[in-house]
Amino acid sequence: MANTVIIGAQWGDEGKGKIVDMLSAQSQVVVRFQGGNNAGHTIKVNGKETILHLIPSGILHEGKRCLIGNGVVLDPDVFLEEVDALAAQGVDVSPERLGISPKTHLILPYHKTLDKAREAKRAGKKIGTTGRGIGPCYEDKAARVGLRAGDLLQPDLVRAKVRHALQEKNVLLRELYKYDPVDEQEVCDHLLSIAPRITPYLTDVSAAVQEADDKGQNVLFEGAQGIHLDIDHGTYPFVTSSNTVAGNAAAGAGVGPRTLNSIVGIVKAYTTRVGSGPFPSELEDDTGRYLRTNGHEFGATTGRPRRCGWLDVVILRETVRLCSLTDIALTKLDVLQNLPELNICVAYELDGKRLDYPPQGEGDLARVTPVYETLPGFVEDISGCRSMEELPENVRAYVRRIEELVGVRVSIVSVGADREQTIVRQA
Ligand code: GDP
Ligand code: IMO
Ligand code: MG
Repeated sequence: MANTVIIGAQWGDEGKGKIVDMLSAQSQVVVRFQGGNNAGHTIKVNGKETILHLIPSGILHEGKRCLIGNGVVLDPDVFLEEVDALAAQGVDVSPERLGISPKTHLILPYHKTLDKAREAKRAGKKIGTTGRGIGPCYEDKAARVGLRAGDLLQPDLVRAKVRHALQEKNVLLRELYKYDPVDEQEVCDHLLSIAPRITPYLTDVSAAVQEADDKGQNVLFEGAQGIHLDIDHGTYPFVTSSNTVAGNAAAGAGVGPRTLNSIVGIVKAYTTRVGSGPFPSELEDDTGRYLRTNGHEFGATTGRPRRCGWLDVVILRETVRLCSLTDIALTKLDVLQNLPELNICVAYELDGKRLDYPPQGEGDLARVTPVYETLPGFVEDISGCRSMEELPENVRAYVRRIEELVGVRVSIVSVGADREQTIVRQA
């Protein structure tokens, strides 16, 4: 296995955590390169479930180096909570195996307050953010006023940056949003009190990945969210605030693009979305409810019910174009059991035209009509299958059809949440 980027091919929650955990067995380093604790990545090992929001999903494999790259936005309190929870389970979370880039921007209390205040003000046009302060933190990064993890080594710099930020933000909070202002002293005192627990983790992630690559080790780049939540290429404005496309693995970890060898798109066997935004193949009927119940489609971060619908290969074609996918890992196939028919959205119709790729104008995706192709369903329990040959013919036909329609090989098939419930197809 070479260096591999794992991305969510749809709107998030495709099962990235499970596949990263599984592929960690053959890697030495796992790096998160964007997003923050808006992510919720679930790993199940021998029936025991762990949900990670910030720490890379390789952490449950002993000895693997786990790194948080400069492209991530890190809530220091959430990081420490996650460290403590893992340590309580006996997982080694020492700075020898876990690192944070000094260039990683920090999510501060006022980012979370602003996230919530902005959403509340968008009455009727809510994005449905996770409320974790992701957007406001990336805003500060782009505005060049953000606080970075490495700044924690300089208390005077922390105080100066927080003071500067609050001069503006407290006016917004008080005057526009009618919120209580944030206390500068309180923010700084708390941050500096936890700084001694964060600073030992500071690591030159860029150099660490380069070093691993030079030694011939395998590096896994763990994406968060999904390609259609990308700030540029997603369903704007109903997107997250980072680039989720595979190319950002390079910028967000601090490596050159030639370091990235294979790009695995995680594709859920149907489609889900949390929060607002267009979703052409959404099912608001019994089938949609069946997928939600059978697939336990409730957010790993916010607990919100996920919107569910048929597999949409139109958005997947765009994912392939945006990310140069080399492979697909197809997850949650078992959830489709007992549906009499399986529909695949193969094209859209818009203003009398048939489209093979999503339309690009803002709002256009909300106006398309999905065109479906129907395949027969299956009734067998496939959660115990460990090879393609063991899968019923109708399931194999579904997988084959996806490969034909998307033009990328399905090299991993997941038939259950547990690490072991996976079929890896030889090349
Ligand atoms: P991520 O954000 O992409 O890591 O995905 P989440 O963890 O938010 O959501 C995926 C959910 O599906 C989790 O509850 C996983 O345990 C579960 N899961 C992953 N793969 C499979 C699978 O093949 N079958 C079933 N039934 N559940 C799966
Ligand atoms: P993982 O990594 C699914 C969605 C939110 C909202 C939009 C913007 O677990 O797949 P944000 O808080 O990022 O500003 O919210 O993006 N969203 C996700 N949806 N999975 C995720 O992460 C998500 N992270 C953000 O629901 O619609
Ligand atoms: Mg998730």
